Amino acid sequence: MEAMELVLLGPPGAGKGTQADHLAAHFGVPHISTGAIFRQNLADRTPLGLEARRYMEAGQLVPDEVTIGMVAARLQEPDARAGFILDGFPRNVAQAEALDRMLARSGVGLTAALLLEADRDLVMARLTGRRVCERCGATYHVEYHPPKVAGVCDVCGGPLVQRPDDRPETVARRLDVYEQETRPVVDYYRRRGLLVTVPAEGAENEVTRRIIAALHHRELEA
Ligand code: AP5
Ligand code: MG
Ligand code: ZN
Repeated sequence: MEAMELVLLGPPGAGKGTQADHLAAHFGVPHISTGAIFRQNLADRTPLGLEARRYMEAGQLVPDEVTIGMVAARLQEPDARAGFILDGFPRNVAQAEALDRMLARSGVGLTAALLLEADRDLVMARLTGRRVCERCGATYHVEYHPPKVAGVCDVCGGPLVQRPDDRPETVARRLDVYEQETRPVVDYYRRRGLLVTVPAEGAENEVTRRIIAALHHRELEA
């Protein structure tokens, strides 16, 4: 397969971060999550993190002026030359247009925009049981992906906590923001013939296999 320049779309809790990790390992390209970059900045108490915090805690999008520049800088880093899995960006049409301009400047075209399709019950079940490592950001689920020792990260031994934006009120807001701001991005890529839709239900490795098969299939058809 050629270079892999992939955008992952889907509602909160669909499994974008989980699948992006598997796909990044499979294709040998970096997993770039805007949410994870904001959370790392917040943990490090940088001005960017402190600015992003109030939006994240309210379940709102961080302003484009902040987000777009951050992604442009990240895509300039050497490891992103061979490709990337973008998780959580673009999240509105202005960001999608900005990404097109960034890629055009470096002569790169997206391989596909992959939509992880999940209904409300599925995302609620996944978000309410999610736990993340406070130290390294690794993601678990109390039922579907429990750590070996309850409350302790398998990777680094750090404490597992609930993400502040996984509280029910904030989840409801994030789902609304997804429908209003991010749905149009799905149509944006559909019109450009880049959209690949994959159901998000089923076990983690089953979803990964489904995604890789869908990407191969698309390549054969192209
Ligand atoms: P972000 O971090 O991107 O959050 P999100 O889009 O709401 O998505 P999540 O991370 O909640 O879900 P996911 O799809 O990654 O699911 P996961 O793999 O963890 O953004 C957070 C905030 O940052 C935003 O609200 C906004 O404020 C800001 N932000 C980020 N990007 C921005 C942008 N571009 N512009 C502006 N603001 C931005 O899986 C969920 C759970 O399910 C886990 O517990 C996992 O273990 C489990 N699970 C996963 N797959 C399976 C499976 N197949 N079977 C069973 N369980 C599974
Ligand atoms: Mg995520
Ligand atoms: Zn950890």
